[in-house]
Amino acid sequence: SSTVAPFPEGFLWGGATAANQIEGAYAEGGKGLSIQDVMPQGIMTPRAEGPTADNLKQVAIDFYHRYAQDIALFAEMGFRTFRFSIAWSRIFPRGDEAEPNEEGLAFYDRVLDECEKHGIEPLVTISHYETPLHLAEQYDGWVNRDLIGFYERYARVLFSRYGHRVTYWLTFNEINSVLHAPFMSGGISTPKDQLSASDLYQAVHHELVASALATKVAREVAPQAQVGCMILAMPAYPLSPDPDDVMAALTTDRTNLAFGDIHVRGEYPGYYLRRLREAGVELQITDEDRALLKEHTVDFVSFSYYVSICETADPAKRVVGQGNIFGGVPNPHLQASEWGWQIDPVGLRVVLNQFWDRWQKPLFIVENGLGAKDELVEVDGVRTVVDDYRIAYLNDHLVQVGEAIADGVDVMGYTTWGCIDLVSASTAQLSKRYGFIYVDRDDEGAGTLERYKKKSFDWYAEVIATDGASL
Ligand code: BG6
Repeated sequence: SSTVAPFPEGFLWGGATAANQIEGAYAEGGKGLSIQDVMPQGIMTPRAEGPTADNLKQVAIDFYHRYAQDIALFAEMGFRTFRFSIAWSRIFPRGDEAEPNEEGLAFYDRVLDECEKHGIEPLVTISHYETPLHLAEQYDGWVNRDLIGFYERYARVLFSRYGHRVTYWLTFNEINSVLHAPFMSGGISTPKDQLSASDLYQAVHHELVASALATKVAREVAPQAQVGCMILAMPAYPLSPDPDDVMAALTTDRTNLAFGDIHVRGEYPGYYLRRLREAGVELQITDEDRALLKEHTVDFVSFSYYVSICETADPAKRVVGQGNIFGGVPNPHLQASEWGWQIDPVGLRVVLNQFWDRWQKPLFIVENGLGAKDELVEVDGVRTVVDDYRIAYLNDHLVQVGEAIADGVDVMGYTTWGCIDLVSASTAQLSKRYGFIYVDRDDEGAGTLERYKKKSFDWYAEVIATDGASL
């Protein structure tokens, strides 16, 4: 029996994915290439010249052909929401065309039909690490101001086509990650070590303006739509009580918090402007940019949460760990996953409280989960995975969500990352599994693509059915 306070009525329980990590069909339906088609090994190794057969994302888990079956499985768990992204290069194959690709649009009509059939509320990410490759190669991605116009056109097409059936929209997945992974997150072809601070922060600015512009367009075209930003949340704790460590942690935290501050308050905070000044960056900001940021702030704040990190002012102690896509000083109190990501359920309550205190906007946890190696076994003649470790991870995190709700935080919903196994973003592996549903495909691309329910499948169904009382 649970000690957790009841989750609010209508709480949006569900799961999350991204197009490039599930769909496959990378060259079908008129789709153009995206940056993911030249990232066969994720962010760890240099990009390829073009598409290569070793890229698991070319087929991924074949959601493009199996979406109906997969959404039916989500419905069986009782999902109230399903987060997926729209592959930009399915809609605008190169990114800079005047007219969209009808075949791409029709695919997402069919996905939405299935969601509707099962009463599942879609949660749509407009841009999730899949910028059309042409925009990366010809424009250097978001460094170029032209991207704002291309994105606006793309967003307008989506709101016009789907706005009557999609309420919840996210503008950019983990928008703050462009600082760390400029190619994956911002389609910026210039190698990171050659990218100037001016170009990087200008790219950030363009994305922020584009996010505000999309919000403006949504209000015109689909007035009932709710538009949120999406931030990679990774609280930084001081490694010691030394005040310099406390300040160092605050400074690191603000590299992420700045993105919420701007999306919620509509202007750059002073500490951010100071950082730019000290880096010698002079942003090109027009009056129109300023007005857009100010007038079209977000309806809610969404975020991913996997890890917390520590921070210190002492360079000798700055041993950087692996945590998430970018490092951080390891926390001696925490255990790590098989991929070195430190597991910190209380950190989720910390983040929820911090964000709520700071922004007073409804919060949506749109990614959380454990990447682990799973073993398919037979139990009573049924093939499954006994993933007690995943159940423990999710249970512990959800208990903390319950605590935050009891603290008075307004939490709209919770979607676990990779509700069905998919190709990982940072390492492009299938063996790093997050799902309630096992997909038979390995890191070499071998397997039947059959789906099997893991033990966590029934566990999550029970959590949803009891609105958290079973936690
Ligand atoms: C987030 C991304 O950073 O973390 C997802 O939004 C990603 O796309 C997820 O898959 C987990 O990371 P990884 O590298 O384990 O896939």
